[in-house]
Amino acid sequence: MVRCLDLAMQKQTRLPIGQRLKVREHRQFQEDTTYMNSLVDKIIAERREGAEGEQPKDLLNSMLTGVDKETGERLDDVNIRYQIITFLIAGHETTSGLLSFALYFLLNNREVLDKAHEEVDRVLGDELSVAPTYAQVRELRYVSQVLKESLRLWPTAPAFTRLRANGSGRKVPDRQTDLADGADADAA
Ligand code: HEM
Repeated sequence: MVRCLDLAMQKQTRLPIGQRLKVREHRQFQEDTTYMNSLVDKIIAERREGAEGEQPKDLLNSMLTGVDKETGERLDDVNIRYQIITFLIAGHETTSGLLSFALYFLLNNREVLDKAHEEVDRVLGDELSVAPTYAQVRELRYVSQVLKESLRLWPTAPAFTRLRANGSGRKVPDRQTDLADGADADAA
């Protein structure tokens, strides 16, 4: 997954000719993608085969059983596969990177570390076998500030791009966009 992400980012900054020369890299990318797809497809198939009452109440289960109230449509398995891979890629590196940088900054700022430590002990208590509740996590205000400041100093997703599509779904090159008829603009 990490190699796919890395290669996908490198591809964005290459000229098309440079891209065509990277034959071995492209093959590796295809192999990694096939592996990720088949792994997630296997998980989806196992869930579908499991008994209904025994399914965990998680995101995958919501996607497998959810029905659009207006159209009655359901997500097909390929769509669910891509949703899961998007969540994995979007959620994994960002979060693990943030935790690494936050720990680094804390270890270099003893005073801040002590304050964070004090808040965690006060809010969560000292019984380590009990999992924190959502309400407790919301009370960790100082820790939340530490995380936000770490993201400000060292953002794990430092930039993102927008590309407008025209009515046919084709990408519109820079300087040819006309937001006045922006019905098809990517407004995410
Ligand atoms: C520190 C943690 C995280 C950071 C800094 C972060 C940052 C971002 C940024 C900057 C975007 C692009 C927003 C945009 O295009 O307007 C994004 C999109 C997204 N993030 Fe996160 N994210 C984090 C954690 C997560 C987690 C834990 C998940 C899910 C488990 C997640 C799922 C997504 C998804 C699904 C998208 C949309 C992807 C798409 O456009 O296809 N993110 N995130």
